[in-house]
Amino acid sequence: MSKVTVGVVAGGISSEHEISCVSASGVMGSIDRSKFEPILIGITKSGRWVLPDANKPMSIVDGKLPEIDEDSLLLTAGMDGIFHNGKRLQIDILFPVLHGPYGEDGTFQGFCEMAKIPYVGSGVLASAVAMDKSFAKPIFATYGLKVAHGFVFTDHQWKNDKSAIMRQAEALNLPLFVKPARGGSSRGTVKVKDLSHLASAITEALSFDTKVMIEEGILGREFECAVLVDNGDVKASPLGEIKILGNQEFYDFEAKYLDDATTVEIPVTLPSGVEDEIRSQAITAFRALGCEGLARVDFFYSHDGTIVINEINTMPGLTGKSAFPKLWQAAGLSYQQMITKLIDGAKS
Ligand SMILES: Nc1ncnc2c1ncn2[C@@H]1O[C@H](COP(=O)(O)OP(=O)(O)O)[C@@H](O)[C@H]1O
Ligand SMILES: [Mg+2]
Repeated sequence: MSKVTVGVVAGGISSEHEISCVSASGVMGSIDRSKFEPILIGITKSGRWVLPDANKPMSIVDGKLPEIDEDSLLLTAGMDGIFHNGKRLQIDILFPVLHGPYGEDGTFQGFCEMAKIPYVGSGVLASAVAMDKSFAKPIFATYGLKVAHGFVFTDHQWKNDKSAIMRQAEALNLPLFVKPARGGSSRGTVKVKDLSHLASAITEALSFDTKVMIEEGILGREFECAVLVDNGDVKASPLGEIKILGNQEFYDFEAKYLDDATTVEIPVTLPSGVEDEIRSQAITAFRALGCEGLARVDFFYSHDGTIVINEINTMPGLTGKSAFPKLWQAAGLSYQQMITKLIDGAKS
């Protein structure tokens, strides 16, 4: 049987470019080469499609994050496929290991649909809705899931009527979380303990997105659940708990990727029934948005025992350190087996 050629797409123009590179290097390193022929396809920060130098390491070395070289060999992508020097690359499936806008938000998925190339993960609509927290939250609420109180506004509204936004924020309980509506990797997310810091937090969040959310901070613990479609069945992994042992105030960029003191603790200790309830809510959230393939669903478990959904990520981090592969490993599925299931799911 001939091997399935998988275009593993890395980088992208979002602020999560580097993390995508690390995730893609995990996929390239572990993919089952007896079944699949992987080709690394890079998207540079400026948006050029390229064939990166396969020998260049794409992991985090001494805290330095990798990226796709702008001067790599150029590719052209269009409705007829992906070409190098006028020659069409033979690609059976694309695996967009891309995080954030222009990768995880339905735009890349739209390209795959139009070019008629099967791809791993959620389709256009689910990707777009999951990416924009201001749309995902009301859908979760409709399905009976609890979400943090908050509101959303645009840069235009902020420019025109700052005081109205300040008043709405004052009505919420401190601390507040100010975040880009379509962000990721905690980039642009600021915890505000004192309203005198609110305006600068909004400016920071607006530097990542034209739409910003302000939410009441949920005081409690943070859990993640990995959802995977296995042969058509939607399955939820055991939970992992985020343990920040460094001095970060919340699960920010540094805690996520740069501080080895942060861990995802598996198995978790929770009152009886709570883990299964969160796992079941993770599947509800996955279905509510019409996700496909995979997602990581993140929750808070507040000090008063309330389960609150935070967000769903349709292309979660797949680095060796990431929660998604670790959670499946805890359920007995190796990184390689997990990747195989994802690619097999994309074919059908
Ligand atoms: N309402 C909230 N209450 C408590 N912590 C929050 C809240 N919103 C965000 N956080 C903290 O900020 C982190 C990043 O926010 P999140 O909404 O998950 O954005 P991203 O898409 O960047 O991961 C969360 O993992 C959590 O630690
Ligand atoms: Mg998050």
